[in-house]
Amino acid sequence: MGPEAQAPNREAVSGSSAAPGSPGAPRVHGPALRRGVAMFVQQFNRKPRWITAAPGRVNLIGEHTDYTGGFVLPFTIDRDCYVIAAPGEIAGMSRIFAADMGTAEVGAAHGELWLADIRKGLYPLVGGKPPSGFARGSWKSYVGGAIDRTRELTTKAGGKALANVDMVIASDVPAGGGLASSAALELALAMWVQATSGVELAPWDVIKACREAEHSFAGVPCGVMDQAVVTLAQENHAIMMRCREPYKPVQVPMPASDKLAILVVNSNVRHALAAGEYASRVEACKQLETLLGALYLSDVDLASVENRRSEISEDQFNIATHVMEENTRVHAAVDCLKRGDLCGLGQLLTRSHDSLRDFYRVSCQELDAIVATAITHSGVFGARMVGGGFGGCAIVLCMPEVVESVSRTLRDMYRAKFSRDCSVTRVNPAGGAAVIVK
Ligand code: GLA
Repeated sequence: MGPEAQAPNREAVSGSSAAPGSPGAPRVHGPALRRGVAMFVQQFNRKPRWITAAPGRVNLIGEHTDYTGGFVLPFTIDRDCYVIAAPGEIAGMSRIFAADMGTAEVGAAHGELWLADIRKGLYPLVGGKPPSGFARGSWKSYVGGAIDRTRELTTKAGGKALANVDMVIASDVPAGGGLASSAALELALAMWVQATSGVELAPWDVIKACREAEHSFAGVPCGVMDQAVVTLAQENHAIMMRCREPYKPVQVPMPASDKLAILVVNSNVRHALAAGEYASRVEACKQLETLLGALYLSDVDLASVENRRSEISEDQFNIATHVMEENTRVHAAVDCLKRGDLCGLGQLLTRSHDSLRDFYRVSCQELDAIVATAITHSGVFGARMVGGGFGGCAIVLCMPEVVESVSRTLRDMYRAKFSRDCSVTRVNPAGGAAVIVK
């Protein structure tokens, strides 16, 4: 079965509100919407009132640069996280059902149910911090953080207070796959908070609130790339952005789907060290900034780092090299997109992977094998790991004609080498977070 056939059964929902930047375009929905609505009806015995959606993303290039104030070039994909909700029916209690979490049976469905009084705040901060006994990094920490932080903004803006709710969350963005599943979740919730409170917030306020929620509640010191692209994306465009005030995101048209196929190859592994290693890279960049007297590592040029070579370790030098060269590659990639030079673009991606593997050291053998196999296949322009690393997904850019053959080659290699399956899906650049039904 090819990736086209593997792709979820997607449908266009008429009457849906379009993603920002694509007025009137019907949004194509994945199976999580149908699954989520069915679960809602089954769990709560009635129809939902609100549906919001927020997509996952692929970062074309500019990896591990956002938290150094550097450049990124992500686009959202046609895979969404959905929030499906209606006013609560049980006095003093919200029922929030996470359809993709845990394996516990809830009624006849799989998932986890959270019972809480949303009016009091899901995770009210104590002295600016989450309360004690709260499970940092759990799905509830993402949900509670995003709802509470967005609610602060809608309350300040004079919006209606949140009342208790019955809610199902279902997602087509694989968790832990390097496709920003957490930002998709945060932004789908933020869209719901806005819809139910009757207030439309400024996009950058929402982006920053959700990033802050991820820092304080989930404990991940992420950059701003994921929340920004999930909010601001326009269909068939990537966003080129410098990740620091004043941001100034620029929409960059992506090649048409008859010229370029974008495959997401999920290694289906997530190495346990992923979260700790991510935080340690962020910390290493901060130390370099202090040492080099720069506000942002991305402001420093490689020559200045070389001048201080004797004061920094080999590891630090490699980290700085990756960040600086990766920023240059982002600009080069934008030039390639403008010229329609897909071979040049592909080579930049492959060089980015080499750097993430050798200098930044955030890849793993599964991702390396996927990239190495892909780039030797004819018709492939380039490939690299995406997201934080240590598992998750790689992207492969190729000619549409070779999609079937590349996919088969990758699946065969992966099974033979790792005795497990990778999944290959063709994705398209999509729009941003949206309210589907309100
Ligand atoms: C994760 C983070 C992003 C970014 C990438 C690496 O996805 O959430 O902010 O740092 O890793 O580029």
